[in-house]
Amino acid sequence: MLKISNLTKRFGGIIAVNDVSFKIEKGEIVGLIGPNGAGKTTLINLISGFYSPDNGKIEFNGQDITKKRMNERAKLGIARTFQNPRVISNMTAHMNVLYAILGSEYGKGMTMTEAGAEAIYYLDLFGLLKKRDVLAGDLAIYELRLLELARALALKPKLLLIDEAMAGLNPVEAEAVSKLINRIRSEFDLTIMWIEHVLKVLMRSAERVLVMHYGRLIADGKPEDVVRRPEVVEAYIGEEEV
Ligand SMILES: Nc1ncnc2c1ncn2[C@@H]1O[C@H](COP(=O)(O)OP(=O)(O)O)[C@@H](O)[C@H]1O
Ligand SMILES: [Mg+2]
Repeated sequence: MLKISNLTKRFGGIIAVNDVSFKIEKGEIVGLIGPNGAGKTTLINLISGFYSPDNGKIEFNGQDITKKRMNERAKLGIARTFQNPRVISNMTAHMNVLYAILGSEYGKGMTMTEAGAEAIYYLDLFGLLKKRDVLAGDLAIYELRLLELARALALKPKLLLIDEAMAGLNPVEAEAVSKLINRIRSEFDLTIMWIEHVLKVLMRSAERVLVMHYGRLIADGKPEDVVRRPEVVEAYIGEEEV
């Protein structure tokens, strides 16, 4: 479904993503881990089209999308969530999802009422029905993370890129989010690339893990195998939590 070849992105002297290649098959849930600054968010920005690469190629369902703009990639079915939730603070939870739907490909011909009902469906799915009329700016971090997921899923993506859904959550909340992500994957026939800084979280959810360090892909395999590799252990030395 997704094929990345020799992808490179530089910021001045920093090579944030350095000659990265991998494939993701339809239906997979792939974790992407690595210490802070490893290049994980930059990689998502390249796949979603927020940045264009200095080198390399991105193919989605056999189509070269390297030069396509962000909205064109969204139309093809690529959606993402943000590490720092990018909701509109002075709009309600409901309106945040509603406007995302109206701006999407399938929502174009919809009336406000239709999009509103559709938005309610996604809020309900993420347990946010009671918060529908609360301004996004007044939501707790846990609810914001759920709202980000609801909004991304409401775009009916084929590939969902999740950037740190667990940051700032307590273990109970993290477990709940993890269950929801696994549930939507099977119910919505999704392919998911899921970034998390903390390795433990992904160990339980992902079937396959990619590890980045200083812009390079240093491991790709089953979570239980990957964590034992010396280069992965080495990359995480000095990090507080593994
Ligand atoms: N827009 C940018 N401008 C300059 N440097 C950036 C930019 N985005 C990321 N970087 C740098 O690229 C490297 C990788 O960052 P990032 O992809 O955010 O890592 P991660 O998400 O793994 O923590 C870091 O050194 C970061 O400072
Ligand atoms: Mg990041």
